[in-house]
Amino acid sequence: MTTRRFSDLPEYAFPRLRALLDRHEPGGNEIAMSIGEPQHALPSLLGETLAKYGHLYNKYPPIDGTPGWREAVGAWLDKRYDLKGALDPHTQVLPLNGSREGLFSAALALAPGEKNGKQATFLLPNPFYQVYAAAALAIGAEPVFVPATPENGWLPDFSALPVDVLERATFAYYCSPTNPQGAVADTEFLGRLAALAETYDFIIAFDEPYSEIYRDTPPPGALAAAAAKGVNPDRVLVFNTLSKRSNAAGLRSAFVAGGANSIAAIKRLRAYSGSPNPIPALYAAEALWRDEGHVIENRRLYQEKFALADDILGGLPGYIAPEAGFFLWLDVGDGEAGVVKLWKEAGVKCLPGAYLGRGDARFNNGENPGARYMRAALVESPEIIKPGLEAIARLLKENAGVET
Ligand SMILES: Cc1ncc(COP(=O)(O)O)c(C=O)c1O
Repeated sequence: MTTRRFSDLPEYAFPRLRALLDRHEPGGNEIAMSIGEPQHALPSLLGETLAKYGHLYNKYPPIDGTPGWREAVGAWLDKRYDLKGALDPHTQVLPLNGSREGLFSAALALAPGEKNGKQATFLLPNPFYQVYAAAALAIGAEPVFVPATPENGWLPDFSALPVDVLERATFAYYCSPTNPQGAVADTEFLGRLAALAETYDFIIAFDEPYSEIYRDTPPPGALAAAAAKGVNPDRVLVFNTLSKRSNAAGLRSAFVAGGANSIAAIKRLRAYSGSPNPIPALYAAEALWRDEGHVIENRRLYQEKFALADDILGGLPGYIAPEAGFFLWLDVGDGEAGVVKLWKEAGVKCLPGAYLGRGDARFNNGENPGARYMRAALVESPEIIKPGLEAIARLLKENAGVET
């Protein structure tokens, strides 16, 4: 049984992948490249701080975190994006139990399902992080899946949407650096998106979990970009997480930052329905946001893997060197077929791009823009992923008819 509201939700990407691959024997020991779960060492600060504050697991945690946690996140945002003290962490930042649930509950708190007597629209990039669509359906809004393509540099421009769609918008999601392509929107682009939210009276959630994983230049952030355009801070929410920056996906520790009124509305709903971070986890998160040493080391390891991918795949048709994040978005003609072939021939587990995208009748005859692609995650060590990348290279060469 499922409610009619969610009947349009396909099976989640990973159970779909299991169903696709379980029918076939892997052609070697499994090489995990499907899920974006960083496997670099956990920072020692994490375990140490959890142990130190473990006695506080007997307390119900406050929904807005501890003062120290808020100050640590505020200081991190201020320094990283040069906000010049403009953000008050005590009213403009809220902890989340991982950003996924926050991306969902923020929409519930802030987005009407109707606007001017019409069904609201939610604007989404496509492919996209799957919770965005679930949030639209929960509100009863119409998701608009705007294709990210090589032509738009993987950065769909919402301002080019028909006015009718923009006028009905109550909420939008945008992700930069992008998952899955690793593209980065510049400050001007982010600022224009935020200004569009002002013009058409909607709220935009900028999802920035890959902000700390880049080759050489730190990606700009939406908070600073929106402020530079003078956009009302309540229009703009920014989400970030320790899952990628600090390899701590299991800690479930993230934040949302934005205008004080929007944050207050999210906080009010979460006081009823939210799942607050345990106090020891808040202390651990505080320590991690205050420490850049482990993040610098983490980035170095990813840069090593970018170089390895460039070395093995560079120049092959279908390979696009990512600017940031830790995914490769590979054009293999038919993503599902490519994933099955790699699994059967080499035990490499990637994710079909179609599972991250959706057909939308408004664009390209309803084609799923992910269908040609497959996503490979560079989350394991270079030793583990090297044979995976070599198998991908063989596949790309075969597709292009290159002799091996
Ligand atoms: C684009 C994007 N947003 C949000 C998340 C969620 O991260 P978490 O819930 O672990 O904070 C992910 C995780 O893969 C992601 O890729």
